[in-house]
Amino acid sequence: MTLSVSYKLSIKVKTKLLKAIIHLTSLLPICLLYLSAFNDELGADPVEAVIHFTGIGAFNLLLLTLLVTPLAKQFKQGYLMKVRRLLGLYAFTYAFFHVLNFIAFDLQFNLTLLFDEVVKRPYITIGLIAILLLTALAITSINYFKRKMGKSWQKLHNAIYLIILLVGIHFYWSVKSEVIEPTIYIVISFVLLYLRRRKFTL
Ligand code: HEM
Repeated sequence: MTLSVSYKLSIKVKTKLLKAIIHLTSLLPICLLYLSAFNDELGADPVEAVIHFTGIGAFNLLLLTLLVTPLAKQFKQGYLMKVRRLLGLYAFTYAFFHVLNFIAFDLQFNLTLLFDEVVKRPYITIGLIAILLLTALAITSINYFKRKMGKSWQKLHNAIYLIILLVGIHFYWSVKSEVIEPTIYIVISFVLLYLRRRKFTL
């Protein structure tokens, strides 16, 4: 009895600690990024630097979200599953800032220009589909929707696998010649998707 209470307590403490680490390591970099931008410390092209940082940050967090289940299963650490939603929400936050920076600084909030970009540049079209899907997942991630949507909730949230693929293509098509980094990301994505292969039903 005392053993099971202390076991549950240690799980609670571990989960809280992990969540605190995730909050810190996700929020601090983005705050420092904008602080550096305001202090003009991001080099010759601060807009590009901010778009790059938030785009890569979003992709890293998406991949981490996908890594949680295989890690929890492999090492029998069920409590890890409790941080999946938090990681996913930070992935969305980074992606949101990524898109917002593009619309604010590159396009000066000109929505006609955004429409032109979506039509003319396939990598922007793909990015738009990815952020729309990611927004749907972020909104429906709250428990209210999970309860209300029943089985369709899981079906919708399986879109994470499609999002990973779309973001990989978006990244690959966005670069002009330097394809090594996006290729590495795509390979990692495929490895993680392979580990989750049983789930591929939309
Ligand atoms: C409407 C949606 C989106 C727009 C308009 C957009 C826009 C851009 C732009 C302008 C770039 C830089 C291309 C360049 O350097 O010339 C870029 C790169 C990138 N984007 Fe997006 N993006 C969108 C969605 C997303 C989403 C949802 C993610 C991730 C979850 C993402 C991740 C990335 C990554 C990883 C890069 C490469 C970073 C770099 O090398 O600079 N993007 N995107």
